[in-house]
Amino acid sequence: MPATVVVGGQWGDEGKGRIVDLLARDASIIARYSAGNNAGHTVINHLGTFKLHLVPAGIFHAEKLSIIGNGVVIHPRELIAEIDALESRGVPTKNLVVSDRAHVIMPYHPVIDRLDEELRGPLAIGTTGMGVGPAFSDKVSRVGIRMADLLEPTSFAERLKFVLDYKNKVIERLYGGSPLEFDAIYDEYVAAGARLAPYIEDTASIVHEALDRGEKVLLEGAQGALLDLDAGTYEYVTSSVPSSTACGAGIGIGVGPTQINNVVGIYKAYTTRVGNGPMPTELHDAEGERLREAGQEYGSTTGRARRCGWFDAVAARYTARLNGVSSAVFTRLDVLDEFEKIKICTAYELDGVVMESFPASLNMLARCQPVYEEFEGWRAPTGGVRNFEDLPRNARLYVRRIEAVLGAPIDLVSVGPERDQAISIRQVM
Ligand code: GDP
Ligand code: IMO
Ligand code: MG
Repeated sequence: MPATVVVGGQWGDEGKGRIVDLLARDASIIARYSAGNNAGHTVINHLGTFKLHLVPAGIFHAEKLSIIGNGVVIHPRELIAEIDALESRGVPTKNLVVSDRAHVIMPYHPVIDRLDEELRGPLAIGTTGMGVGPAFSDKVSRVGIRMADLLEPTSFAERLKFVLDYKNKVIERLYGGSPLEFDAIYDEYVAAGARLAPYIEDTASIVHEALDRGEKVLLEGAQGALLDLDAGTYEYVTSSVPSSTACGAGIGIGVGPTQINNVVGIYKAYTTRVGNGPMPTELHDAEGERLREAGQEYGSTTGRARRCGWFDAVAARYTARLNGVSSAVFTRLDVLDEFEKIKICTAYELDGVVMESFPASLNMLARCQPVYEEFEGWRAPTGGVRNFEDLPRNARLYVRRIEAVLGAPIDLVSVGPERDQAISIRQVM
């Protein structure tokens, strides 16, 4: 049975964690394939409210395997803290497996993340500061350290000496920062390796065997396609290699494209973005503020206020195509319950020309004016609705119109953050 990918269709925070928690019941393995603890995936279920940064949202299903794949960059201390926090709240983590090929976030990565943002000055990306970008840069530059290295203290010492010397030169000579000491890093990372050793395995083989047995595997993405290095609003993107799009899933877990037959694109009912970079439908007025308060749009990782605006169908259609979305999930419909008018941006206007494509040029994108279709709101609570036909008529019209502009079927509508607050239209996987 091939694998299903869950991928964000906007600028992240679409509700991937919440949807993976729900879909996990139909899979035997749930595996994160990209990014690091820049991600913040919120899950609310019978066990409580959780903000996961590295551990897959399948962890609440004790009988299923949760995997952190080779495509994720892992800060060992953060992972240990996340494991301890879950255990202390009664969520067992014996079913967690961590790839031996995953790269490690080292102490110099958050330092370089901060120094690099300072160096960029007004052109700062607005990163989460977790060191994720620098860790992926090191992976690509072939000076990364992997989980497997932490299990071999003698060769790790040699590797760290070389890499730390290299990184300290960068910190001192390029950024004018202070060098980091070898001993403290070595001791902390060897201890973390020993603590995490029971979790570390060749995760790709585990996934291959499950697929061979005909089991369903759910691959959990992070971020969204508009933050992707290739597809997104470069350079205001995240640096994950593998990609944040569905195409990254195979690389980040270690399966080929023939093993993936289903791409679930998650879209929220309006648009948000954290950090810098163009966002054509951003609202700088009271309506944007109202969306932020109605949706409590504050970052799960950094607590930053998210920028808010109406649903951008130009961007959404673009990401649905490049992810090959076979099934769309529409989240946070209930956040719009009280709005009198709701808008969808169906095209951009640039210098008097109406366009429906998503431009590569950031200058162009920044100047694009949204062309809106306006909808009457439904002014009724939807959080308790479980059948599509029971939604208010205007809410159904809104969902159907989004489906049409997206070009992919909406199979599930989420009307609240809790596991059961969902309307199933068709089986997703
Ligand atoms: P992720 O990064 O894609 O997993 O999303 P985040 O967890 O960062 O942000 C999504 C937020 O929306 C979380 O606070 C969720 O609890 C919440 N959420 C998810 N789906 C719904 C929904 O349908 N309605 C409401 N009101 N909140 C939702
Ligand atoms: P989830 O998985 C929203 C954004 C940051 C910044 C840019 C680069 O929860 O959807 P980075 O620290 O990655 O180098 O920052 O990417 N960003 C996210 N925005 N949700 C996320 O993850 C994000 N991960 C990174 O805000 O603009
Ligand atoms: Mg998030």
